Amino acid sequence: MLDRAYEPMQVGPITLPNRFIKAGANENMSMAGMPTRAMLEHHRELAAGGVGMTTMAYLAVDKVGRTLPDQLWLNDDVVPELRAVTDAVHAAGGKIAAQITHGGSFVTGIFVPRRLQSSVSGFNPAGLLRGNLMRRAMNEADMDRMVDAFVRGAERCVAAGFDAVEIHMGHGYLLNQFLSPMDNQRRDAYGGSAENRARFPARVLAAVKQQVGERIAVLAKINVSDGRSRGATVEDAIVTARILEAAGADMLVLSGGRNVESGWFMFGSNINLDAMLQVLGKWSLSGMAIAATAKSAPKIDFQELYFWQYSTQIREQVSIPLAYLGGVKSADNVAQCLEAGFDAVALARALLREPDLPQKWRSKPEEPSLCDNCNSCVAYIYHPAGTWCIHRPANDLRANQVLASSGTV
Ligand SMILES: Cc1cc2nc3c(=O)[nH]c(=O)nc-3n(C[C@H](O)[C@H](O)[C@H](O)COP(=O)(O)O)c2cc1C
Repeated sequence: MLDRAYEPMQVGPITLPNRFIKAGANENMSMAGMPTRAMLEHHRELAAGGVGMTTMAYLAVDKVGRTLPDQLWLNDDVVPELRAVTDAVHAAGGKIAAQITHGGSFVTGIFVPRRLQSSVSGFNPAGLLRGNLMRRAMNEADMDRMVDAFVRGAERCVAAGFDAVEIHMGHGYLLNQFLSPMDNQRRDAYGGSAENRARFPARVLAAVKQQVGERIAVLAKINVSDGRSRGATVEDAIVTARILEAAGADMLVLSGGRNVESGWFMFGSNINLDAMLQVLGKWSLSGMAIAATAKSAPKIDFQELYFWQYSTQIREQVSIPLAYLGGVKSADNVAQCLEAGFDAVALARALLREPDLPQKWRSKPEEPSLCDNCNSCVAYIYHPAGTWCIHRPANDLRANQVLASSGTV
């Protein structure tokens, strides 16, 4: 079965050279909304290492859809800089997806001087750090504008040379604020049943598919579960997957958990508090908030393929192509996923540790990933040199201070 991982795969209108996908992992390799040289080198290295498709994490479809101040957002000016990254990936033989979304009320690093949009109104716990204390429920006109923003964003991704967009509907961002009952308490056609909660995210996907679906692949990343008793369940995820399939999704990437309420579920293990405090500073507001959250999290022992019981239930119930994600750590894991009917595997931490893992497993399938699940990489999202694995040489800070199109650092 491992051989199949190295076979090309059709996803909508594109063909991936193999079935290894680098999962979106916030690179923090952008400066004032523009990708840096570090971003280009990072994705080029992954493509050269044999990943079929790498994913640039979370490009906001609107300026107010950002979570962090330097984050990428899709406007005309950024297109040529993004093109430098996609060209480099293509030259190395890989494909590249843009993860696109809108933060909604999940805005942790910027103060927005008006109420943030979400599925519901009221107090906004995720906005506590920057004073974004209140949110407001989107109405039909807001939703129409948001659909337009996603469509325009996807069109810019085509112009920038991306092969796919991955619409992020998990982890607590705007579309997840509709899918998850942890936020969505609406009483109209967009709240209540799982079908209703999926209505707006599906509308976004259908509009994007209609606009760009013949030129690039349209993927969605969804939660298999929110990992909380009040959250979306695997039964909800099955309903969501069916609805997104009907809306035209070419493939779903299966993840889980929410950034604020269940980060431990997302990573199948606890955050590395020491690394977080080292990078953020012990006495910073963010550091203190993360320390408080970490203390209330259940203690989790990492297990390989930790979303298996959820993701296989979804696999049995839907026919749409699915990428398995969560704790893929060995060639045996990859073979097991493909054997169970998943079409691709998506990996984040293992590829941060070894960007050439697909090549390594081709010649030495018996060697497991060197990632030890220390989760330090998650803390380095906030480092000025950009996200990196602490077991590798540190990133070059200078490369994260010049534009992607600049050949020199
Ligand atoms: C450093 C880091 C940053 C991440 N940032 C994002 C992100 O921006 N968007 C996203 O959808 N997931 C993000 N994730 C989650 C991963 O995509 C993935 O869901 C998770 O790491 C589990 O996969 P793994 O076991 O292969 O690491 C991030 C993960 C890591 C390690």
